[in-house]
Amino acid sequence: MCAASNGDVSIVETGSYHGKTTVLFGTVLKYFSGTSKVYSIDIHDGKQGATDLGLKTYAPSYEFLKRNIERSHLTNVVVAIKDHSWNVQWHSPISLLFIDGLHDYPNVARDFWHFEEWLVPGGYAVFHDYADYYPGVRAFVNDLMNSGNYSRIKLVDSLIVLKKNEVRVIHIVKSKKKTFLTRD
Ligand SMILES: C[S@@+](CC[C@H](N)C(=O)[O-])C[C@H]1O[C@@H](n2cnc3c(N)ncnc32)[C@H](O)[C@@H]1O
Repeated sequence: MCAASNGDVSIVETGSYHGKTTVLFGTVLKYFSGTSKVYSIDIHDGKQGATDLGLKTYAPSYEFLKRNIERSHLTNVVVAIKDHSWNVQWHSPISLLFIDGLHDYPNVARDFWHFEEWLVPGGYAVFHDYADYYPGVRAFVNDLMNSGNYSRIKLVDSLIVLKKNEVRVIHIVKSKKKTFLTRD
């Protein structure tokens, strides 16, 4: 994604916790382009899991995240947003959307659809915990693939990468002799 991009790359992540994936994304972006950003969103209330299977509560995580970003020298690359995903007003193109918040179907869907319209055609939607132990994540991602709007690119352990299909405009061309379809 970065190598193919000539300009800025924007990664939006829902679910930073202590920043393991945040630091990973940030390090890659820093290497490829100093102006790209990771927007890492987390309410940091310590709640994890899935509402249908039971939530666990850990210590609030914001201070840990900040410290890990600083230690990794990524303060210019990572924008940490302490809020619920659905409160974040978003108005710019996203190259990669990473969903790793709560792992039940309604929450995965809410986090995803809040940003989806900004995910560029050809951009990546990445979900963590696409696995039997989180049936809500599995079901949501399967629905997305069955919609025909996303293609499965890769599954590594429980991390699944989908690509947003390019929009195809079909024109109906009518001439005196025949009617046919063309694509852009
Ligand atoms: C599994 S952890 C994220 C782990 C992180 N991606 C990593 O790899 O280290 C899930 C986090 O998502 C946050 N979270 C869940 N739903 C959220 C939402 N809708 N908006 C913001 N944060 C959310 C929780 O506070 C929790 O810290």
